[in-house]
Amino acid sequence: MNLARKVALVTGGTGGIGKAICKRLLEDSFIVYLCDIQDELKKSVISELSQFGEIFYEHLDVSEEPQWKNTYSKIMDSFGRIDLVVNNAGINIRVVIEECSVEQWDRMFQVNVRGPFLSIKHGIPIMRKQGYGQFINMSSVAGLVGYIPTNESYTATKGAVTLLTKSVATRYAKYGIRCNSIHPATVETDLVKNILTDKKLRDERIADIPLNRLCSPEDVANAVAFLASDRATFINGVQFPVDGGLSAR
Ligand SMILES: NC(=O)c1ccc[n+]([C@@H]2O[C@H](COP(=O)([O-])OP(=O)(O)OC[C@H]3O[C@@H](n4cnc5c(N)ncnc54)[C@H](O)[C@@H]3O)[C@@H](O)[C@H]2O)c1
Repeated sequence: MNLARKVALVTGGTGGIGKAICKRLLEDSFIVYLCDIQDELKKSVISELSQFGEIFYEHLDVSEEPQWKNTYSKIMDSFGRIDLVVNNAGINIRVVIEECSVEQWDRMFQVNVRGPFLSIKHGIPIMRKQGYGQFINMSSVAGLVGYIPTNESYTATKGAVTLLTKSVATRYAKYGIRCNSIHPATVETDLVKNILTDKKLRDERIADIPLNRLCSPEDVANAVAFLASDRATFINGVQFPVDGGLSAR
């Protein structure tokens, strides 16, 4: 049995969902590399989370290939292993398709799809050598179904993440590598704060969800914790909705 502590990398870790994931993984005894581009939040987020365990901040723009190489090298030099990569960083430029510029469309793909692509591209060789490792990709309910409140560029990027996950799960399972995706409904974070401050829009989002409440960052973190746990070692290539039944309708 390998008693060494497990190491996790979480992108977008200063954001609403990312921070909750980091906290939950620390509580489950992971060493956590919180990666983000909001360096001004480094001090406060690390001081908030370090009470829960061993955490490091790394500047990582997920769309930049050299930064991925650098981050993986640092983790391997320090700990010699990487057990879990949570590809959580994401953006949403909220314009419907007929108003979406090519630049906006490309930017959405640069962060939401190129990010997980580079993560997996450079993580796979390490995990293959180890014989273990897992990627958890943050998709959305919009990566499962067309959801009218969500714009097409976001839906297209999250749909790409869904099938990227399945492809990696099937190709690399033989090396002990798993790849799963998580699909939250609306979560109360900065990403949707403009919508949720509007009472009518907020009520509409809640009414869409059979369990009749919004998703919390902790709901998503609990799903990550489960997939990262020893109870989920045969779970590979799944699309795990955390949506109160929204995508089941
Ligand atoms: N909030 C929701 O309703 C919701 C629902 C379903 C899925 N999601 C997904 O969950 C993930 C986290 O979203 P959130 O709600 O916590 O949003 P958030 O805006 O609170 O956090 C997103 C984080 O990603 C980081 N980020 C943005 N661009 C980056 C880049 N190029 N490189 C590295 N980091 C970058 C931001 O700095 C931020 O910390 C996203 O992938 C989002 O699409 C969110």
